[in-house]
Amino acid sequence: MKEKTGDILSRKTAKTEEIVCRFLPKEEGWQKTVLEAMNYTMRAGGKRLRPLLMDETYQMYGGEDRDLIEPFMAAVEMIHTYSLIHDDLPALDNDDYRRGRKTAHVVFGEAMAILAGDALLNYAFETAAGAFNGTERDIRTARAMQILTAKPGIYGMIGGQTVDVESEGQAISMDKLLFIHEKKTAALIECAMMIGAVLAGAPEEEVAGIEAIARKVGLAFQIQDDILDRTSTTKELGKPAGSDEKNEKNTYVSLTGLDQAREDQARLTREAIGLFDQLSGENPFLKDLLMALTDRRY
Ligand code: IPE
Ligand code: IPE
Ligand code: MG
Ligand code: MG
Ligand code: MG
Repeated sequence: MKEKTGDILSRKTAKTEEIVCRFLPKEEGWQKTVLEAMNYTMRAGGKRLRPLLMDETYQMYGGEDRDLIEPFMAAVEMIHTYSLIHDDLPALDNDDYRRGRKTAHVVFGEAMAILAGDALLNYAFETAAGAFNGTERDIRTARAMQILTAKPGIYGMIGGQTVDVESEGQAISMDKLLFIHEKKTAALIECAMMIGAVLAGAPEEEVAGIEAIARKVGLAFQIQDDILDRTSTTKELGKPAGSDEKNEKNTYVSLTGLDQAREDQARLTREAIGLFDQLSGENPFLKDLLMALTDRRY
């Protein structure tokens, strides 16, 4: 009998969870507190979407070397988790819940939460650099490291977070909102999928195709996040619903209204799938997963 997409997703998420957790540091030494704060948020669960997308893209292009992909899977989830710890800080979105738990700054204090975020970003690079092994695959690893360092940076995620925070309480244009959303969220999804393709040795034009798909998927993902912030509950999200309104954020919903946001989100997903069908690689599960993100509930 054919396994249902939801069942395959649960199985693959559990496997991704195991991979990510295997790379976490031991909580020991004089600096133990920061290690506990890192692992506290890393182990709180979450969808593990970015490492899963990376792995599926890798396999789509025939990647089989687990020693190569797994450190990068853990690394992208560490970067994502650091971005959440810092995003929740009192100076940014000031949220008390994340992944169904009290946020790191509530449990460990602000200083440790700042350091845990810094530590996860740095440990991500240490972990990914562990994939270098002195063989010819190092050329691909180096290219993947370039992507891993750039996409979360000033021209990517941090760029988006900067404009997001600076725009609170102000009326902004759709162009500026798209900048925020593409940088703060789509950039890391591009990062994940591009690394999967690069490490598997996909040709440059395929990597560019993957980047374009991931940008649309990432934008749709953030639009859905904005919709859920308005329509869902704290219990279902595992993070505070209504956070955007509290912070007077510009969101896709605040600019266009709910109906248009839903429509644009679905259209972006359709466009992404259209591009996906033109790729040389094939991965029916990945295609289903990208489509299923449209009506995710958390
Ligand atoms: C939350 O990301 C931050 C956004 C970019 C919207 P996720 O919704 O992937 O959060 P987790 O990893 O499942 O907790
Ligand atoms: C998150 O945007 C983008 C990040 C880089 C963390 P949000 O501020 O909307 O994410 P949530 O809703 O807190 O997860
Ligand atoms: Mg935010
Ligand atoms: Mg937030
Ligand atoms: Mg949000």
